[in-house]
Amino acid sequence: MKTVRMSIIGFGAVGQGVARVLIDKKEYLEAVGLDFRVVAIADSRTAAIDKNGVDLTAILYRKQTEGIVGPEKVTGLEIIKEIDHELVIETTPTDIVTGGAGLENMLMAFKHGRDVVTSNKGPLAMKYAELMEAADEGDSRFRFEATVGGAMPVLNLAKDALAGNTITNVEGIFNGTCNYILSRMMEEHAPYDQMLAEAQELGFAETDPTYDVEGIDTACKMVILANCIFGMNATHEDVTVTGITKITPEALLLAQNDGYVIKLIGEVNDSMINVGPKLVPVDHPLAVGGSLNVASLQTDLSGPVTVTGRGAGSIETASAILSDMISIYRE
Ligand code: HSE
Repeated sequence: MKTVRMSIIGFGAVGQGVARVLIDKKEYLEAVGLDFRVVAIADSRTAAIDKNGVDLTAILYRKQTEGIVGPEKVTGLEIIKEIDHELVIETTPTDIVTGGAGLENMLMAFKHGRDVVTSNKGPLAMKYAELMEAADEGDSRFRFEATVGGAMPVLNLAKDALAGNTITNVEGIFNGTCNYILSRMMEEHAPYDQMLAEAQELGFAETDPTYDVEGIDTACKMVILANCIFGMNATHEDVTVTGITKITPEALLLAQNDGYVIKLIGEVNDSMINVGPKLVPVDHPLAVGGSLNVASLQTDLSGPVTVTGRGAGSIETASAILSDMISIYRE
C-alpha cells in the first residue's frame, strides 16, 4: 500500500466534495494500493491538522454546522510551507485578475517539491508558463483536469486516451450556467434574468455570475486548452469573447423555428481562441441541453471525438480531481 500524505486547501463545495469521495472510495482506493491520508485541511479562516490523518467525517460535519474546518488559525499557505506532505489539492476560489491565493499556493507547493492537483482555473489562465516552469523546477507532478469541464474528461482525453493523435481543433460548451440559461429560455420562452436566478439557485454559477454569462469562465477554460493541448502561452486577454446577455427569447424562438439552438461555443486551435454564441443544428452532437458540457476534438488519426458530461458540481468536480490523484500515484 502506498501512503500519500495530502492537504486540501480551500474547503468550499469542491474541497468538501474531495473529502466526501475520499470517504466513499476508501475501499476502492485500498484495492488499487492507495492510502490518501489527509494531514491538513484549510478554509479561508481556519485549519484542521493531524499528521496521522484528520477525521474527514467530523470535519465535514463541523464545516456544515459551524462554518469552519477547525481549531487552528493557520493559513493554507503556511500549511503548504510547513507541514510534511506529498500532495496539495488546491480548491480555493478562482481569481482571474491576479491568480489569487491559488497562484501563491501552487507556487509554494512547487517550491517545496509537492505535487498539485487543482480545480482552480484562475492561476492557469493567468500564469500557465510560470506554473509549468515552477512545477518542473520542483520536480512536482501537476494535474488540472477539473479546471475544464468538471467531470467531463477533456485534457486527459487529449493527452492520454488520444495520445499519438494530433488535435487540430477543440470546440464545445464549457459553461453549464450559460447552457442552462439558454436551454431553459428556449423551453419556457422565459426572460434571461429569471433563468440566471434559477441557475444560481442550482449552485453551478460562479460566485460572480458575470464570469459565466459574459463568457469569461469559458474563455479561461479555452486558454487552458490552448496552452495544454496546443502549446500556446495564452492568457484570457488573448480570447475574443462575446457572452449571452443580449440573447432574447425571441431570438431563440426564431432559431428554433429554423431547426437550430443557440449555444455559447468555445473554440480553440493553433491560430485562434474564440468564445461566442453560435447557431447549432438541433441534431448536431454539440446541441446538448440543460447544464451539460460537451467537447468535440478534431484529431488526425481518430477523426472527431465528442464527449459530454457534467461540467460543474461538488462531487462531479471532485471526480476529476480523484482521477488525477489516482493517475499520478498509480503510475
Ligand atoms: N460556473 C461554471 C459553470 C462552473 O457554470 O460551468 C464550472 O467551472
